[in-house]
Amino acid sequence: SLPRSVKIVEVGPRDGLQNEPQTIPAAVKIELVNRLSQAGFANVEAASFVSPKWVPQMATSAEVMAGITRRPGTFYSALVPNMKGFEAALAAGVDEVVIFAAASEAFSQRNINCSIAESIARFVEVARAAKENGMRLRGALSCAFGCPYQGEVTADAVADVTMQLRDLGCDEIDIADTIGVATPRHVQTVMQRAAEVFPIERLSGHFHDTYGQALANIYASLEVGITIYHASVAGLGGCPYAKGATGNVATEDVLYMMQGLGIETGIDLDAVVDAGQFISAQLGRKPAGRAGNAIAAK
Ligand code: HMG
Ligand code: MG
Repeated sequence: SLPRSVKIVEVGPRDGLQNEPQTIPAAVKIELVNRLSQAGFANVEAASFVSPKWVPQMATSAEVMAGITRRPGTFYSALVPNMKGFEAALAAGVDEVVIFAAASEAFSQRNINCSIAESIARFVEVARAAKENGMRLRGALSCAFGCPYQGEVTADAVADVTMQLRDLGCDEIDIADTIGVATPRHVQTVMQRAAEVFPIERLSGHFHDTYGQALANIYASLEVGITIYHASVAGLGGCPYAKGATGNVATEDVLYMMQGLGIETGIDLDAVVDAGQFISAQLGRKPAGRAGNAIAAK
């Protein structure tokens, strides 16, 4: 049977916007984050304290964190690649630090300029500092179903890095389909393998919709007991180090499906549709995803 409720983590302000070529003013990002927290998300990924040379769009992260209205009950997360990023995240009052590793060596090199082992070694200090400062710690695992540079990624490789993230003390671990290549059975195999080494209730599914499989992959994950999903309002995004990757699955589509399945999310779908219209108008395009546009057209 399917779970009765799920947690949806809204990653649009970070995973979504990081890939936009034009500079988005901090004020727009702030309004987006505020609209999303008001819609009821328990977790909004709002910022990324990475090198601005690598991801220029995220250079305003401190400004964004300083400008938002904190909603009690919402955790604000940020990506942190190293101690420099940690210091910035701490100063910005981030609630949850996201360390990000890859299941593929080739992607690790391209994305964070080091091997998987080097990244884990670098995260030891970040993880310790996060815990010492009472912050939540999440681990993202990119390319868990395939890699744009090396191709195949095995379930054993996923389990191996999942264990390393677990041992760093991660409260939650994201099994991410960075390039959206996974299909439902593959997803079930990998999720079940990861759940052998980390509590399934703290594993999340992070699906990009590049090949149109994201909703099917979420449904497949529900069937094996995954209860945390990442989604991006208006389907924003891509990854600067995964060419051709599209955004995460659109939050509106996920919420619509959950509603139909009778699975509680605690999120106001109409408010998310409005947020999607808002940010898409700012970017000068129509929201990706389907449900949001259908609802807005009614
Ligand atoms: P590097 O060049 O090897 O590091 O980059 P470095 O230590 O030599 O630093 C280079 C320069 O960056 C220096 O500046 C540092 O001070 C500065 P310079 O001395 O040349 O003026 N720097 C920083 N500045 C601000 N904040 C920092 C920071 N660190 C160094 N934290 C590094 C290594 C990890 C920093 C770099 O590769 C990087 O920032 N990578 C981030 C890439 C990224 O953000 N990718 C997208 C996110 S991952 C993703 O989207 C996937 C995910 O969504 C899941 C999925 O979908 O699969 C999570
Ligand atoms: Mg992503």
